[in-house]
Amino acid sequence: MKNKKKTALITGASQGIGKAIALKFLNKGIRVIGTSTTQNGVNKINKYLKNNGFGLILDLKNTNSISEKIKEIYKKVYFIDILINNAGIKSDKLLIYMNNKEWEDIIKVNLTSIFYISKEIIRSMIKKKEGRIITISSMIGYTGNKGQVNYSTSKAGLIGFHKSLALELASKNITVNIVAPGLIKTNFIKDLNIFQYKKYLSNIPMKRLGTAEEIANVVMFLSSEKSSYITGQTLHVNGGMYMS
Ligand SMILES: NC(=O)c1ccc[n+]([C@@H]2O[C@H](COP(=O)([O-])OP(=O)(O)OC[C@H]3O[C@@H](n4cnc5c(N)ncnc54)[C@H](OP(=O)(O)O)[C@@H]3O)[C@@H](O)[C@H]2O)c1
Repeated sequence: MKNKKKTALITGASQGIGKAIALKFLNKGIRVIGTSTTQNGVNKINKYLKNNGFGLILDLKNTNSISEKIKEIYKKVYFIDILINNAGIKSDKLLIYMNNKEWEDIIKVNLTSIFYISKEIIRSMIKKKEGRIITISSMIGYTGNKGQVNYSTSKAGLIGFHKSLALELASKNITVNIVAPGLIKTNFIKDLNIFQYKKYLSNIPMKRLGTAEEIANVVMFLSSEKSSYITGQTLHVNGGMYMS
């Protein structure tokens, strides 16, 4: 598998936005390494990748495993050209009812893991003076939301991380950006009840949810040469629900 083809690492590629990004990369001839927390998820990834990369088990709650997993990848590929930090979780509750684990797990998966992964990946990007880092955040990191203190904090923390890392890596020809979706039709929002759904919808000027593909299109742009002078930015993709 060690040849000149570009390689992208996508966390959480078994479904939803991660899978949509992976399929776009495949179309562009970019090899994908996609992660899931389960073997079933890895099997799904391997099925759609059809040997244009591979699936890998990675649980971002286990931050100590990240370094080993990245080493495992580098045994099979020379270089990761594009890092897509996509995996994310939520566990919604008013702060008064939120327990420590519900706080810590969300911060670990959505924020702390990005530190561990980026640190491993940027070493070789710096040597090669080339690379793209794109993280899927959320509009909620910019607006806040009742019942999402943990989630909102984790996504807001990404802003400082990406701006600072973008400054550190700008002279190395490595761009570091965020894509912040609004409400996107994936399993992530399947627990919304009809009342919550209608309330959210009434706040979307385009009067519809976004699709995973619409997020993937923006990620493709930020991964491409066409975005070579953009770094430290957030691109909001939310049907007009929030304007920065
Ligand atoms: N959908 C939305 O409305 C929306 C809005 C704003 C932001 N986002 C963000 O978009 C990103 C993708 O969300 P999505 O809508 O595609 O959600 P999704 O369909 O639920 O997919 C989430 C992915 O994350 C992976 N994942 C879950 N827990 C993980 C863990 N502990 N370690 C590693 N990977 C884990 C899952 O892998 P397995 O289940 O296979 O293990 C899955 O592939 C997230 O960061 C989310 O915060 C989504």
